[in-house]
Amino acid sequence: MTAGGGVRGESFSQKTVWEWMAALERLPNVYVATKLPPDLKAELERHARPRYWDEPLKIPRERLLREIGDAEGLIVPGGLPVDRELLAAAPRLRAVSTVSVGYNHFDLAAMRERGVVGTHTPHVLDDTVADLVLALMLAAPRRIPELDAMVKAGLWGKDGVPEEQIFGMDVHHAVLGIVGLGRIGEAIARRAVHGFSMTLLYHNRSRNAAAEEKYGARYCALDELLRASDFVVLMMPLTPDTAGFFGKEHFEKMKPTAFFINASRGGVVREADLVAALREGRIRGAGLDVYECEPVSPDNPLLKMPNVVTLPHIGSATAKTRHAMAALAVRNLTAVLRGVPGAHIVRELADLA
Ligand code: DGY
Repeated sequence: MTAGGGVRGESFSQKTVWEWMAALERLPNVYVATKLPPDLKAELERHARPRYWDEPLKIPRERLLREIGDAEGLIVPGGLPVDRELLAAAPRLRAVSTVSVGYNHFDLAAMRERGVVGTHTPHVLDDTVADLVLALMLAAPRRIPELDAMVKAGLWGKDGVPEEQIFGMDVHHAVLGIVGLGRIGEAIARRAVHGFSMTLLYHNRSRNAAAEEKYGARYCALDELLRASDFVVLMMPLTPDTAGFFGKEHFEKMKPTAFFINASRGGVVREADLVAALREGRIRGAGLDVYECEPVSPDNPLLKMPNVVTLPHIGSATAKTRHAMAALAVRNLTAVLRGVPGAHIVRELADLA
């Protein structure tokens, strides 16, 4: 629609005014619970009548519950719980679109009962998340944050600090074990094998023939992967089956020189077991972008460990990728509401569309 009335490309006449009003009447109400840039607002407004949460801070829960009332569609940021309470507050809701690839914040059973379709944003963030995983794989063994702090504190070259004290561990030619070799895992593999000449092991529910061929990846049992890897990278989605999956029995099998990297979901790991493994020197260090509880508590012992690199869940957080994710979230929602194909509907609810 154009601001002056009239559908784009049509002449302004009484007939088109009525058509325009009728079309506007039919557009579904949508609530956008995350900030959208102007170009994506314009795109959404071609197919919906949106209301926006436009503040820089996260929308307070009570505010969302109060405002969502007549929405047929909802766009949420990753992590915002879409549960029974929220669904009850929006009796006309038909579709929820999350600006994230992970959708562990969807109560899938409740959505299914209500017939609410959920969509997510795969593919567009793969390379960005893979970049971050490589950053953790470099930062932890080469002790980048620790030594950066040392330099900034004016301690470089101070008498009595032997040079060996700042030695790290090589990344190139090391053995990388990826647990959960999906799309993002493949992007990590490409960087590690082609860029750093690493040897690649992986463990999955099913074999990844493409990765075996392209990166020489070798499929192995989880125990074997843990025993052989210099880096164990966890790339598993958080589901009822994977919650708390990785713990003591796994850390015990890792090499004492190995690093544990997690940029998928903190809830897949028993964090107390990770803390114990690090404290007891059963593994050498860790690179973490995700935690059992986010934002991570300032008292979390992981934050006090110099051999642990801690980031604030920024896997996909570049301006370009977040824009691409938001654009995909808008396309997903409008496709579902208009009943046209092409939306990335989450696997568990695919039959609802
Ligand atoms: C996602 O989109 O689920 C990722 O956690 C982004 O970092």
